Amino acid sequence: MTATSLKIDYANVLDAAVGSVHGLSPAEIRAAQPQVKPVLARIERERRAGKHRYRDLATDRQMLRQVQAAVRRYQGKFENLVVLGIGGSALGNIALQTALNPPFHNLLPDTVRRGPRLFVMDNVDPVQFGNLLDVLGPSLRKTLFNVISKSGETAETAAQFLITLDLVARRLGKKSLTKHILVTTDPEGGTMRGIVEQHGFDALPVPPGVGGRFSVLSAVGLFSAGMCGIKINSLLAGAAAMGQRVAQPAVARNPAAMLALLLHAFYLRGKRLHVMMPYSYQLKDLADWYRQLWAESLGKCRDLEGQPTVVGPTPIKALGATDQHSQVQLYREGPNDKVFMFLEVERFARDVKIPRVAGMPEELGYLQGKSLGRLLNAEKRATEAALVASQRPCLTIRFPRVSEDTVGQFIMLWEAATSVMGYLLNIDPYDQPAVQLGKDYTFALMGRPGYEQQARLLKRVARAQRYTV
Ligand code: PA5
Repeated sequence: MTATSLKIDYANVLDAAVGSVHGLSPAEIRAAQPQVKPVLARIERERRAGKHRYRDLATDRQMLRQVQAAVRRYQGKFENLVVLGIGGSALGNIALQTALNPPFHNLLPDTVRRGPRLFVMDNVDPVQFGNLLDVLGPSLRKTLFNVISKSGETAETAAQFLITLDLVARRLGKKSLTKHILVTTDPEGGTMRGIVEQHGFDALPVPPGVGGRFSVLSAVGLFSAGMCGIKINSLLAGAAAMGQRVAQPAVARNPAAMLALLLHAFYLRGKRLHVMMPYSYQLKDLADWYRQLWAESLGKCRDLEGQPTVVGPTPIKALGATDQHSQVQLYREGPNDKVFMFLEVERFARDVKIPRVAGMPEELGYLQGKSLGRLLNAEKRATEAALVASQRPCLTIRFPRVSEDTVGQFIMLWEAATSVMGYLLNIDPYDQPAVQLGKDYTFALMGRPGYEQQARLLKRVARAQRYTV
């Protein structure tokens, strides 16, 4: 570990802090290690056979060069970058931007902003999308659309893409399409790959063997980050450093193994709600990214042998200090079924002093002369101590600073922890079969050929359901 390494402080999950009913004893943690060790060995063995491909992204120089070349092709030519994608094709982009660019990046003047304005459209809400089109209208000529879909089958992204194609063709002429559209998709097959080849769009690959929610460190997340001035080589360097730590066979020295061990031990004890609560606005969308990773990877009804099972911790995101005024009442006095994971920043990128203001009442004196950073971290410590006083297990992931390096570490840490947790729960963390049925029903409701049977079923259900008030 170095001075810039992320650290996990888990003293407050121990029985010494929260009591033996709700805490883990050091002996229990030691006793769980022999169960985790073979999982680590299995993952390393499978990596050598080509599985867990996301783990190789951090050191994939060719992929980095390809993304950097694409960034060079487009940099300086556009005022707006619109990412069209959803789920794993969007959440990483949003998280990187929130973590590593100023909160009001899009409002900064061109001379100060480190790249184009970024809009990540991960929904098909007509009011939101319609308004985006209004906003882009006057500067469409200066807008690049990055369509991201590994499969090309996703209805939301496909719909946005069709609207975009039509708009650009009508407003700027058909010949402009290839100048304004960059597609990130499967390099070998799929609907979007076919479109790329037919229309000659510029394209970046979603690496084979890397699923959407594990793809942020590929062209999926790196292109928009690079365009917006984020140092993507440092991001990968941070991820690579964590890659070494999570390859460590000694469980107690492997942060992904320890995270999975602790969360699995609590899962077995009935604490199945995992709350991630950053005390940093910059880290808030990483909690959203984690929420998808943990939920979609671990909520499964078949085990690795194909037998029925029901597993899955529920990830919850909260934001300090905002949610102290929304959730903490429940967290302290409601059911003791949660593990709290704070994200804490030792040194904020900047701080704001709370001035001494003449004539203010004595009650506000304690704030004056301090800083917002000090207040935010004091609130984190105070909330943790209050939760511990109610026997709620808490751990903290500590960021020395929020930087490309530490964000890269965080991403690799949680991706690797997800693999370990998946195997501890004896399920496949890389598939998402349950998502398909809703997609099929959407196709049926939208009249896609081949889905007539589902459409008839949905009609019958709709007729039978007359319970409205
Ligand atoms: O993690 C996943 O696999 C999903 O969340 C996908 O990223 C999401 O469904 C979008 O899929 P696609 O990139 O194929 O459009």
